[in-house]
Amino acid sequence: MPSGLELSIVVPTFNESGNVRELLDRLRAVLGETGWEVVFVDDDSPDETATLVRSIARSDSRVRCVQRVGRRGLSTACIEGMLASAAPFIAVMDADLQHDETRLPAMLALLRSGSADLVVGSRYASGGSTGDWDGTRAGMSRVATLASRFVVRQDVSDPMSGFFMLRRDVLDASVRRLSGLGFKILVDILASAPGTLRVAEVPYTFRQRSAGESKLDELVIWEYAMLLADKTVGRFVPVRFLAFALVGGLGVFVHMAVLAVLLKALGVAFGTAQSAATALAMVFNFTVNNILTYRDMRLSGRAWWGGLASFMLACSVGALANVGIATYLFESQTTWFLAALAGVLVGAVWNYAVTQLYTWGRKARAS
Ligand code: GDD
Ligand code: MN
Repeated sequence: MPSGLELSIVVPTFNESGNVRELLDRLRAVLGETGWEVVFVDDDSPDETATLVRSIARSDSRVRCVQRVGRRGLSTACIEGMLASAAPFIAVMDADLQHDETRLPAMLALLRSGSADLVVGSRYASGGSTGDWDGTRAGMSRVATLASRFVVRQDVSDPMSGFFMLRRDVLDASVRRLSGLGFKILVDILASAPGTLRVAEVPYTFRQRSAGESKLDELVIWEYAMLLADKTVGRFVPVRFLAFALVGGLGVFVHMAVLAVLLKALGVAFGTAQSAATALAMVFNFTVNNILTYRDMRLSGRAWWGGLASFMLACSVGALANVGIATYLFESQTTWFLAALAGVLVGAVWNYAVTQLYTWGRKARAS
């Protein structure tokens, strides 16, 4: 009789083909007789991590692969990997060997004993360390940890950790509330749990990345802000709409700046200048929304140009609706300010809804 499945290790990957074999060798060495499996969740990496994982899986059925096409995102990858497994205990760890796999048995023992609901591999618990991080990254990590106090009730030394283990029923209890935004899946889980979880910590030292490069860039700050916003005001307004509206606000500044230059510095006629400013503001809004608001469904290459065209078309209709409604209200005795505001709101909601469907929604539906 083969031993039953006890532990599932979920490993999100993007371009990690250089690390997969070494990670598996280390897991085999450290987990011994435990009934385990590993689920790689790969976002269609250009280096064909998924193909490599599948080829290994043919000779070791403990290895599995979930390949997602047309989507990106560390948190959603972890969520889908956890949901694709049946094990009573689930671990999440990176593929690049930065997380100390030798801590897994200790983490599992804590869960088995029933003394904890979730175990965090912590760099900040005593005995742990961030390894050789530069001052900036260490400082940012600390600020992010402090900010997590707004949404996380538990006292956890390292809520930013991407290395943790939990009982399946803990996931089940919060999975429908998860935001799935950005990189910080542990903060998401801690903030989404219906009650206060019993959290244990196992210290470890964050290692140097083995092969490949980090996918973490400046925009993780933005993604983290979106996660915190979703966990607080997200109940009332979709955070994507907030982001879209924020970008729209910036677009107004771009519009005014372009208009001013064309009118004052270059002496262009008002109608022409206004048209040019409108077009440029649309290109600006599309570009920024594609990077920030729809980061997980980012369009590139040919799809970028198609997206721009559909965005400009949708927003032109939105502008007509805006002006039409505002004018109608103004002519039926509404004060100019309220009439304009109603027009802007209707236009914004239209632009958001239509571009979500036609500009960024296409790729997701096609795959
Ligand atoms: N499927 C998928 N999709 N995987 C991804 C994506 C994505 O969009 N982006 C990154 N990954 C995978 C990487 O391939 C790697 O296995 C893991 O997620 C972590 O990504 P890194 O690029 O190595 O991030 P990091 O080392 O800078 O940050 C990690 O460690 C921090 C400290 O523990 C992450 O785990 C952070 O969340 C964590 O705070
Ligand atoms: Mn890493």
